[in-house]
Amino acid sequence: MSNANSSISEALAYIVFDSSQEPSLIQVESLAKRCGFAIVSPADIADGKVSDKAAAIMFNDGLWRVHLDNGAAIVSVDFSEPRFYARLNNAGLHREYVVRAVLGRKKMTQPLTVLDATAGFGHDACLLAAAGCDVTMVEQIPLLACLLEQAVQQASDVSTNDLLLSAGERMKVVEADSLLLMQQWSDPRPDVIYLDPMYAHPEAESKRGLKKTAAVKKNMAFLQRLTDPSNGEKPTGVSDGQGLIEAALSLATRKVVVKRAPGAEWLGGIKPASSLTGKATRFDVYPLT
Ligand SMILES: C[S@@+](CC[C@H](N)C(=O)[O-])C[C@H]1O[C@@H](n2cnc3c(N)ncnc32)[C@H](O)[C@@H]1O
Repeated sequence: MSNANSSISEALAYIVFDSSQEPSLIQVESLAKRCGFAIVSPADIADGKVSDKAAAIMFNDGLWRVHLDNGAAIVSVDFSEPRFYARLNNAGLHREYVVRAVLGRKKMTQPLTVLDATAGFGHDACLLAAAGCDVTMVEQIPLLACLLEQAVQQASDVSTNDLLLSAGERMKVVEADSLLLMQQWSDPRPDVIYLDPMYAHPEAESKRGLKKTAAVKKNMAFLQRLTDPSNGEKPTGVSDGQGLIEAALSLATRKVVVKRAPGAEWLGGIKPASSLTGKATRFDVYPLT
């Protein structure tokens, strides 16, 4: 079983459809079409028709998850995951650098509208939503956008937890190239635009200064695998940093915030008005008012 244009043995990832279980073939086909991956059956896997190196996208316990390296690592977006949830459900939420950089010191009477133009796994966006912002997450990789939608839906519709429910209600996902989206924007302008772009070379990713927990390493390895073509072309997940910051500075009404590594160059070479620097990350702040 396969509906992909490329052969399944060469694919980066494939979607497993088990006709004896949810979800239906129609739902699986719609995910496969959106993400551009083939559908395979458990029998295809047992017959060795798929490469060990490809990621397997599987539905278990009500969620799509990505199984890497024959299930040795599993990647998903789940805001109720205990380590991440502990950061949300914590008096320290307002001391998170991303929250401090975006909210600033002024007391807001209205929730800030935030455009997270490089949503990734949605962690920063969820921290901001839990802190009271209305966040639009923009992600260009279809599979990641699907996983984000699933996580938001799980938080806002399925969760019985008030904190996750209210954060979920304040987040929405848009699958798009945020550079084009910002350049062609026609809705009310966002108060704040947040950027956390990837570095052009995988080896420079460590410069983003993220704490190298096993979870962060696994997520970044997955992103690199999804975005870094083996044919030597420019990785699709690499952003035009200069374009993104220029578009963001033209669109936001209050400020632009950029996440960098402590020693990294300013995005697009544009000097921020101030920076919040922690051990592992720096948040450059560009006020517009
Ligand atoms: C480093 S990750 C962001 C991590 C995120 N801050 C978090 O908390 O999980 C960068 C993400 O931005 C996405 N991205 C980069 N440029 C983009 C663009 N122009 N439009 C949409 N998404 C983009 C990449 O696909 C990648 O998923």
